[in-house]
Amino acid sequence: MKDIRNIVILTGAGVSAESGIDTFRGGGGLWEQHRVEDVATPEAFARDPDLVLRFYDMRREAIQTKAPNAAHLALASLDREWPGELLIVTQNVDDLHERAGAQIGLNETRVLHMHGEHLNAWCMACDERSRWTGSLIDRPACPECGEAALRPDIVWFGEMPYRMDEIFEALERADLFVSIGTSGAVYPAAGFVRNAREFGAQTLELNLEPSQGTHWFDEARHGAATELVAAWVDEVLDR
Ligand code: APR
Repeated sequence: MKDIRNIVILTGAGVSAESGIDTFRGGGGLWEQHRVEDVATPEAFARDPDLVLRFYDMRREAIQTKAPNAAHLALASLDREWPGELLIVTQNVDDLHERAGAQIGLNETRVLHMHGEHLNAWCMACDERSRWTGSLIDRPACPECGEAALRPDIVWFGEMPYRMDEIFEALERADLFVSIGTSGAVYPAAGFVRNAREFGAQTLELNLEPSQGTHWFDEARHGAATELVAAWVDEVLDR
């Protein structure tokens, strides 16, 4: 692709949908029978920690039975082959981008989880994060400090997404911003398209249907991520 060197990709739940992981806003706004605000806020955790911990234990267990799909694999091949800068900012808390193989630039990962990760636990006593594949409902001890103060390492509504400075720096340098499988309902991610435009990047949406911010994109293609993303990666790599 001509004149494109630096790419920022934003992914959302639609990228993992064909791996069998539910999106948030399909099916009437219920998420595994819970309203998102009943399980995904600090207030919900304070009010009913067992409900929240059980809910995330279930999700953590479920994602480990799922496999990356053709969209994750295509983005991983872009990560391997793209000669310029590439940052995959994901709102997803699953690890399917990494398992597809998109992870290692020279020293650092090119996948950035702005909303946290299911496979991390965050200790509220010592502030350390630990890799976590099991459950949290029984209040296990933090491997770092021994306190039983672990919570899911998930950015809940009302909390600040991670690594915003890095994201904005990458958006500032981007020649192309691509949004994949996200409804454009949740800020600040939903605003990245406008930030990218202001910084002078071209913008492309790949989503099953027009997102809430679809009119902000220079181009929008609608269909299944497994098809659209694979075709776009072939195009951008000129194969
Ligand atoms: N291919 C492409 N897009 C798809 C597919 C698919 N197979 N299936 C669904 N989609 C699209 C839907 O049309 C929808 O626009 O993916 C989008 C998913 O939207 P949401 O469920 O709102 O997910 P997302 O945008 O990632 O949510 C953002 O909301 O609750 C929070 O923190 C949570 O990170 C999440 C954030």
